[in-house]
Amino acid sequence: MLKVKNLNVSFKVKDEVIKAVENVSFEVNKGEIVCLVGESGSGKSVSCHSILKLLPRNSIVSGRISFDNIENLLELSDKEIRKIRGNKISMVFQEPSAVLNPLLTVGEQIVETILAHKNISKEEAKEIALKTMEIVNIPEQQKRFNQYPHELSGGLKQRVAIAIAIVNNPDILLADEPTTALDVTVAAKILELFVKLKEKGMGILLITHDLGVVAQVADRVYLMYKGEILECSNVYEFFENPKTEYAKKLLQSRPIFV
Ligand SMILES: Nc1ncnc2c1ncn2[C@@H]1O[C@H](COP(=O)(O)OP(=O)(O)OP(=O)(O)O)[C@@H](O)[C@H]1O
Ligand SMILES: [Mg+2]
Repeated sequence: MLKVKNLNVSFKVKDEVIKAVENVSFEVNKGEIVCLVGESGSGKSVSCHSILKLLPRNSIVSGRISFDNIENLLELSDKEIRKIRGNKISMVFQEPSAVLNPLLTVGEQIVETILAHKNISKEEAKEIALKTMEIVNIPEQQKRFNQYPHELSGGLKQRVAIAIAIVNNPDILLADEPTTALDVTVAAKILELFVKLKEKGMGILLITHDLGVVAQVADRVYLMYKGEILECSNVYEFFENPKTEYAKKLLQSRPIFV
């Protein structure tokens, strides 16, 4: 469904060109959670942000990202990619505040996202918004609908960000460390929600450096190291029979958890 092939990304910094991602290939299918793991700076975010053309202007990107019947997302114009972003493919980030507008209520932001892609009335959009808030387990939806982001806890803000991301029923959800900033119990609930979304057919690319998270929710795993994919395994292989020395070391360096 989403296929990244030979992705290369570098950044122009002053007179230098710095390679960030080299020859990266991975895919995400309907109804699976794919984890992209690797240490800090290994290129996880850059790979993920390339998909929706969210990289800064000083980036140089090549490769092919096919999705649905689109040959290469990288070749779409800004206008064309905006039709896909938040609709067919959407994204959640570590910091929900990065996507929430402090000046708009929760409800206004969800409704706005629906109306950007669907030609329906405000009332219909409100109904969909409230239903989506229920799906992501936001209690007292009507009250929360009228609140501003600053009135919510971190966990609730992330749920609102997820509601915005899934409200148009995307085929693919990209999630870049979505639970890192949350405390453990709140994080666990969000992961449960991802599993539910996957079971409904969504394909989820989940970036994490937490192998506990991988063990809990992943179907498949891509391990990144210094801008490249070192190995691709299903979750059982990854933990039981890692292919590379690096993966073995990584697994040894943490306590047994499964
Ligand atoms: N805007 C930028 N300009 C220059 N270099 C960048 C830029 N963004 C990322 N990089 C470089 O690209 C490489 C990969 O970064 P990336 O953010 O993808 O790492 P990551 O795996 O997501 O790390 P983390 O776990 O810390 O989030 C790093 O070496 C980083 O310094
Ligand atoms: Mg990152």
